[in-house]
Amino acid sequence: MVRHVFVGGKGGVGKTTIAAAHAYNCAGDGLETLLVSTDPAHSVGDLFDQSFGDEPRSVEGVDGLSAMEIDPDEEVSRHLQEIRGKLSEQVSAAMVNEVDSQIEMAHGTPGAYEAALFDRFVTVMRDAEGYDRIVFDTSPTGGTLRLLSLPDHLEGWIDRLATKRRRSIDRYERAAIGDREPRRVLEGDPILAHLEDRKEFFEFAGDTLREDAAFVLVFNPDSLSIRETERTIDRLEEQDLTVHGLVANRLTPEPEPHEEGRGARYLRDRVETERKRLETARERLSPPILGTVESRVAEIRGDRLADVASDLDLGIERDDRR
Ligand SMILES: Nc1ncnc2c1ncn2[C@@H]1O[C@H](COP(=O)(O)OP(=O)(O)OP(=O)(O)O)[C@@H](O)[C@H]1O
Ligand SMILES: [Mg+2]
Repeated sequence: MVRHVFVGGKGGVGKTTIAAAHAYNCAGDGLETLLVSTDPAHSVGDLFDQSFGDEPRSVEGVDGLSAMEIDPDEEVSRHLQEIRGKLSEQVSAAMVNEVDSQIEMAHGTPGAYEAALFDRFVTVMRDAEGYDRIVFDTSPTGGTLRLLSLPDHLEGWIDRLATKRRRSIDRYERAAIGDREPRRVLEGDPILAHLEDRKEFFEFAGDTLREDAAFVLVFNPDSLSIRETERTIDRLEEQDLTVHGLVANRLTPEPEPHEEGRGARYLRDRVETERKRLETARERLSPPILGTVESRVAEIRGDRLADVASDLDLGIERDDRR
């Protein structure tokens, strides 16, 4: 069964909107659904006119739907704090300051931001119980895509580190003869145990993303967006992740046949251009276009979300995987 749905696409194409609309539909179909947002700007809070936090909270007025907002900045701080705690237990007092200053530096690196968010996603996938479907409004492009390859990279890295660690413990034991030094045994070594934990965590992440997740990409009917989508599909496939389908968002509505004048002519031309672009998208991109959503006059929130949701049927069954 597909429990996790990731809604990707480049900035501003409508990921949060489409993720929320899909989650809304899932809840309507009787699936206990959790919507996870990482977007501090256009948050699910705005969409439902309700505030959400780091833990799932029921969406008022929508049965079976809960939502949570992950604040990427807070995640980085928490993540680094955790690392600081773990390291401080394991190094000498003299090293603690050094650890602190290294961690301060790590705070500013772009990798820290992504790593922390990814950790949080995986934790939600692993620990959020009682949901039939979890919808992430995240974007598998650029940095996030690199994160998806982390399980593989890290697995090798952790294996190598663990081997080195075993070797160094071995040497340490041989050097620390007699009772001058406490003997550290491999069994129960806290650093190795931690590395093993991390490896299992990323193994779980990789398996879940490949076997129990559907990726949906949102695009707008312009050439740039279609090219971006093509690249994203390729990059996802490099990670053995199949894109379930695409959603074309913000299509121009067609005027009624009797409508004439400059505005109507503009709209007809625009509709025709977009029709050709969608044709191109169908030819060039292997995943099917599962949904098309017209442009609304105003931003999507409140009742307009239900309206968008009624345009959208992603057809991701609970046991449907491509
Ligand atoms: N079909 C639509 N008609 C009208 N407005 C839309 C439509 N889809 C999205 N919008 C509006 O466009 C803006 C951007 O949409 P949204 O926040 O969903 O994009 P996003 O891809 O999540 O953006 P970001 O990359 O910044 O996270 C929002 O104000 C949203 O209400
Ligand atoms: Mg968003």
